[in-house]
Amino acid sequence: MTAIRSNVADYREAARRFLPRFAFAYLEGGAENEITLRRNRAAFEALAFEPRVLRDVSTLDTRTTLAGQAAAWPAVVGPTGINGLFRRAAEEALARAAQKAGLPFALSTASTSLLEDVRNVTEGDLWLQLYVQQDRRIAENLMARARAAKFSTLMLTVDTPVLGQRDDYARTGFAMPVRWTPALLWDLATHPRWLAAVGIHGQPRLVNLSRSARLGAGIEDRTGTRTHRMDLTLNWRDVAWLRRHWQGRILLKGIQGASDARLAFAHDVDGVVLSNHGGRQLDGARSPLDLLGEVVADAPRGAEVFVDGGIRRGSDIAKAVALGARGVLLGRAPLYGLAAAGEAGVTDVLAMLHKELQTCMRLLGCPDLSALTFDLLTAHGAAAAREAAAA
Ligand SMILES: Cc1cc2nc3c(=O)[nH]c(=O)nc-3n(C[C@H](O)[C@H](O)[C@H](O)COP(=O)(O)O)c2cc1C
Repeated sequence: MTAIRSNVADYREAARRFLPRFAFAYLEGGAENEITLRRNRAAFEALAFEPRVLRDVSTLDTRTTLAGQAAAWPAVVGPTGINGLFRRAAEEALARAAQKAGLPFALSTASTSLLEDVRNVTEGDLWLQLYVQQDRRIAENLMARARAAKFSTLMLTVDTPVLGQRDDYARTGFAMPVRWTPALLWDLATHPRWLAAVGIHGQPRLVNLSRSARLGAGIEDRTGTRTHRMDLTLNWRDVAWLRRHWQGRILLKGIQGASDARLAFAHDVDGVVLSNHGGRQLDGARSPLDLLGEVVADAPRGAEVFVDGGIRRGSDIAKAVALGARGVLLGRAPLYGLAAAGEAGVTDVLAMLHKELQTCMRLLGCPDLSALTFDLLTAHGAAAAREAAAA
């Protein structure tokens, strides 16, 4: 009997039960003490709504444009690597579900399906998330392939010169190449549904990178080859290099401070994604939501500011938009759906978030996104408590 799942948290629980411990740890974990991971959620929770009543909300419109393309609501199915660990043909499932929801899908450089195969299953808006390896020809080839496959937008991730330290990987045995320990074998044996649906088919492979590097490399080669080694020399001057190879829109993902956002716009990018990689990189970093107002106030006309990290409810999206975000990126939420129930699970998670956003907007008295403004929000908690104490 399938349990009724009525929100993202229910899908998270189903994903936790389906996946072996090491795979769920990979999906869920944050860096080090997970301070930033918790801060991402806390920032949403610290904002309180001050709704307007007696507004006509008989019609509701959540449509917008994201990086110049029409979208049904202000969200992007964000880039996540090694999705083949959760389900087979995972990126195809995410892309199809995104298209059905009227949203763009951002494919990670670390995808386990070819970008051409993803394009073959959808006519929807596709973005390429780029990591740059030491051999620049790999990124140049990825961009050329994505252009040929009519991807609309390039998103360079800038918060990952090295991987953040994730303690859970060692604890749960998530390693590349796989180290066959008794604990890992027990983990697999106690998750027979995952084993039958995913594990039995072998390790997922970073086929996109491998094709561009013309190496038949699998994930196990990550540590060894130039294919998978990040280019630590990457710097602001390289935005011009990107422009030479990408004629469409360029976004920088992983901006974590207002001064870097200003630098990004000074380098003429089309937009930024305020993000700390879902708390998986620099532990102790600020929450992107806290940064949003400051960055939006300074952004040039036409530049788009996205935000991600901790979005689990439609009301979180409403808060981000009210603070000036063009849209949000969804990281773990669609992955919970994917792991729990494949494409149908992603579709359901996206439908729930959209419905929650619509409910929230009606309760706020907002018939469309332009009515979602910052005066509908108030920071409660510490400041309010201080005021009350002083009174
Ligand atoms: C399992 C997993 C893999 C990820 N892989 C990538 C990646 O390959 N490239 C990237 O730019 N961001 C990656 N991210 C970060 C997401 O794009 C996004 O910034 C983050 O998940 C947002 O936070 P949330 O998961 O709380 O929604 C990954 C996140 C997760 C959870």
